Amino acid sequence: MAVYQVITNPDPVLRQKAIPVEKINAGVLRVLDNMKDTLYAADGIGLAAPQIGISKRMIVVDLGDNLMELINPEIVQQEGVQNGTEGCLSVPGIIGWVDRAQKVTVRFLDREGQDQEIEAEDLLARCLQHEIDHLNGILFIDKASETQRESD
Ligand code: NI
Repeated sequence: MAVYQVITNPDPVLRQKAIPVEKINAGVLRVLDNMKDTLYAADGIGLAAPQIGISKRMIVVDLGDNLMELINPEIVQQEGVQNGTEGCLSVPGIIGWVDRAQKVTVRFLDREGQDQEIEAEDLLARCLQHEIDHLNGILFIDKASETQRESD
């Protein structure tokens, strides 16, 4: 178990295009485990590998009921528009309004290396799009129509 400190903007690793995972080995599985531990420790709903300083295409998502681990995730279909607020562990204290597709189909590899596909909508779709953006060096503040300080 290893909890990492989440890297924050403007660290350059957040702006790199992450490279695909070529082979799922013990090192890759360890990274996924560490991402999960870090996600839960930070009380987040999604985390991408670059946020712990690893520029590889891996994300973890958990909206509270189920941990999803996606290796080399790719949006293969999208539909509709939703506008809502987002935040990011790498951009602490800021929320912003971002348009996202309402529904996405994402193809990925699971930790056994099997091809998987999921259809997601609403918050899960938003979260997947946000995390996949991280793999392309994109932060939600790049896309937000408006941002403000989180009030709490
Ligand atoms: Ni984020």
